[in-house]
Amino acid sequence: MSKSFYITTAIDYVNGRPHLGHAYEKVIADVIARAHRSFGESAFFLTGLDEHGQKVQQAALAEGKNPALYCDELAVIWQEVAAKLQLTNDDFVRTTQRRHKEVVQTILSKLYDEGQFYKALYEGFYSTKEETFLTEKDRRPDGTFDPMYGEVVRLQEENYYFKLREQQSWLIDYIEKNPSFVAPDYRRNEVLGFLKNNVLEDLCISRPAARLNWGIPLPFNTDYVTYVWFDALSNYITVPASRNDAGVPPQFHWHDVSSESSISVWPADIHLIGKDILKFHAVYWPIMLKAMGAPLPKQILVHGWWQKDGQRMSKSTGNVVDPVAIIDEWGVDAFRFYVVRELDIGPDGNWTDAGFRSRYSAELANGLGNLVNRSLSMLKRYREGKLRKISTELDPEATRVITETRSLLEKNELQRALITIWSLVTRANQYVDQTAPFKLAKEPAQADRLDEVLYNLAEVCRILAVLLWPFLPDTSSKIFQQLGLSGAPDKFQAAHWGGLAAGHTIGTPTPLFPRKETVPKEQTAQ
Ligand code: MSP
Repeated sequence: MSKSFYITTAIDYVNGRPHLGHAYEKVIADVIARAHRSFGESAFFLTGLDEHGQKVQQAALAEGKNPALYCDELAVIWQEVAAKLQLTNDDFVRTTQRRHKEVVQTILSKLYDEGQFYKALYEGFYSTKEETFLTEKDRRPDGTFDPMYGEVVRLQEENYYFKLREQQSWLIDYIEKNPSFVAPDYRRNEVLGFLKNNVLEDLCISRPAARLNWGIPLPFNTDYVTYVWFDALSNYITVPASRNDAGVPPQFHWHDVSSESSISVWPADIHLIGKDILKFHAVYWPIMLKAMGAPLPKQILVHGWWQKDGQRMSKSTGNVVDPVAIIDEWGVDAFRFYVVRELDIGPDGNWTDAGFRSRYSAELANGLGNLVNRSLSMLKRYREGKLRKISTELDPEATRVITETRSLLEKNELQRALITIWSLVTRANQYVDQTAPFKLAKEPAQADRLDEVLYNLAEVCRILAVLLWPFLPDTSSKIFQQLGLSGAPDKFQAAHWGGLAAGHTIGTPTPLFPRKETVPKEQTAQ
């Protein structure tokens, strides 16, 4: 079995419902996975949930539920949202699954046997909220700790530690020699800066079960559970390990491997994550993998954070953007389009309802929707939906857009890919205005010219459907249907001029993006 392209997302804490930030990351990963499949590659897309640890235990407790039941209930909702976003994930990992827990224990046992861990007494500060130990260095100039750490307590306890310090120079060297290991560049520089200016503290990989029992017991001392980040990061490899993956060192394969179908995906090609969890992925994770003797992922791709109206989204402020509400009102493709078009992978972004509505109306309804609808409606009206002759007038412009889109998709430049695709939408809309088929239709001497124009428009619509497949799968399928084409627009190789044959008859045009009243709801209600 040859190795598939493998993309993962962060696995989300199940301490609430998915919000815009979670959904954004998953949509980006889905676009990348779909693009690779469209290029004819096989791709494996993994997402899932991080269910152990203090955050989840506390959230369950606050609802008076036991954590296992709490996670089971929420996992259903998260998977429904994944389906609603039209994610094409090939697996969905939950860190409470037996396959994951057992492989994590195998990893821990092997590393313990090899002397990678040691036990030591810790005395100092601990943030329960962030589940992390703090040092004097973490104090602010006025002596307090950042409020993000919540309540900070003094603690004295024995724990197991993973030796990181001795890996520091190797890791710096590795990141310097592999410039694309962390992207974008400024995130790579951030990691290198951190590694060069700090001595790496060894990583505490346990929590005493007496204090926190919602976790995977350490196989060599069940008075402890595994630190949630060691547990969570492992998901990227426990899934392949539980599915007989040849890229995973055999000693980590799950003993019950026959119960899952085989895959060949490791090492991962892309771990897509948000900027806040960069250190875990670019520092701890490579060191864990090196200790396991497993090949390292090819890239950690880091996206920025969304704000709402210029403010951090938070449940307490009540300004959290709910992707489900947006999808129910505007459709899944409107959501997918806005998040990818608005925010490039890297910088931070800002969601405003006005910005969303404006892109919906300008780019989707009046741009793409109008182009497809008027092109196919004219073909229906003037030629009973039948293409009479082939023409290549817009071929050069379409071909340039196809080539550029492909190269941008290969570089994960999704926002620029959409901008490029929209240059064809705009060009084709201008073409309608310039050629004025509605006038040509009134002049019998222009019949040939009208046939040409209608062909160019229909063919541009077909090509757009193929280019848009990774981004707007619903819309792209609808365009194919309305063009009377069978099959899915899911193969990039179909993006070449001349796919529609003379004599082909299209289906029924229907608006793709209904125009919406742009007056905010509160005002209409009065
Ligand atoms: N469970 C850990 C990740 C473990 S990965 C081995 C975690 N979970 S999380 O639910 O807090 O965040 C999940 C992902 O969502 C992270 O990549 C995070 O950066 C991303 N986002 C959370 N809020 C976000 C925004 N407001 N905007 C964009 N992405 C954000 O961290």
